[in-house]
Amino acid sequence: MSLKPISPKPIRKAVFPVAGLGTRFLPATKVVPKELLPVVDRPLIQYAVDEAREAGIEQLILVTGRGKTGIVEHFDIAYELEHTMSERGKDLSLLEATRATPGDVIAVRQQVPLGLGHAIWCARAIVGDEPFAIFLPDELMVAKPGGTGCMKQMVETYEQVGGNLISVLEVPMEQVSSYGVIDPGAARGNLTEVKGLVEKPPQAEAPSNKIVSGRYILQPEVMRVLETQGKGAGGEIQLTDAMAKMIGQQPFHAVTFDGFRYDCGSKIGFVEATLAIALRRPDMGEQVRAIAARLLT
Ligand code: UTP
Repeated sequence: MSLKPISPKPIRKAVFPVAGLGTRFLPATKVVPKELLPVVDRPLIQYAVDEAREAGIEQLILVTGRGKTGIVEHFDIAYELEHTMSERGKDLSLLEATRATPGDVIAVRQQVPLGLGHAIWCARAIVGDEPFAIFLPDELMVAKPGGTGCMKQMVETYEQVGGNLISVLEVPMEQVSSYGVIDPGAARGNLTEVKGLVEKPPQAEAPSNKIVSGRYILQPEVMRVLETQGKGAGGEIQLTDAMAKMIGQQPFHAVTFDGFRYDCGSKIGFVEATLAIALRRPDMGEQVRAIAARLLT
């Protein structure tokens, strides 16, 4: 495993697949996209976009579907709202992170939710011939105090190793059958070579307990693999299956994020994220701690 800087092509673009049905959150997600559910006062998609910007990503590609246009609206300028707020002397800085530079947010449509791999493929014309990042916004990645976000850590590693990178974390063996799992090779610090990848394996067949956790840096060749990728686990076109085919053709590594990850695609993970973030917020942490203590007695 070489760790010499190799100056690969920079990561300027990120794809946010947000066309899933969000069935685990019904009825909340019947009308409101999962990615707009707020953890305290910011929607999930905002956390992911902030993480992307911290990592130097310039262009945000949203793969939306039916009923998901609110996500695109979120990054528009709400003229009437801002006008009324400034007339009333209200603080507009809360909206700053939602303002996109014109042309920096691009939406493409996944007409039918055929799976994550298919959603990524829908962005192929915008991604073009350069490496790109992927964020699953329902995986909320939170930096340690004073630390950096998951994608920034990945970009720093990418500058050393190039190729394809995925973020991974360890879960109890009983949980592996719900996730994409890596077959790990040589490891050095938080970097592990990836020898194989399998989506939702039965526990007995899982090659490890290291699961793929919602952040990727991939080479554009994955789009060509996805072009002909058939259905996999759950009858969906899986990104994991396409990535597995690239192993051996191009360098493929996993990075273990030094920070906190919350699975906000599940209800329990969402509640955990809300509590964890509220407890860390300087404007409410103490009150939330007092409330939690009272509720627990
Ligand atoms: P999930 O597996 O969490 O599926 O998708 P989901 O539809 O969002 O939620 P549940 O399982 O029904 O509750 C992982 C990511 O892939 C996107 C989702 O929006 C989410 O960001 N996705 C999934 C698509 O964009 N298109 C698809 O066809 C499937």
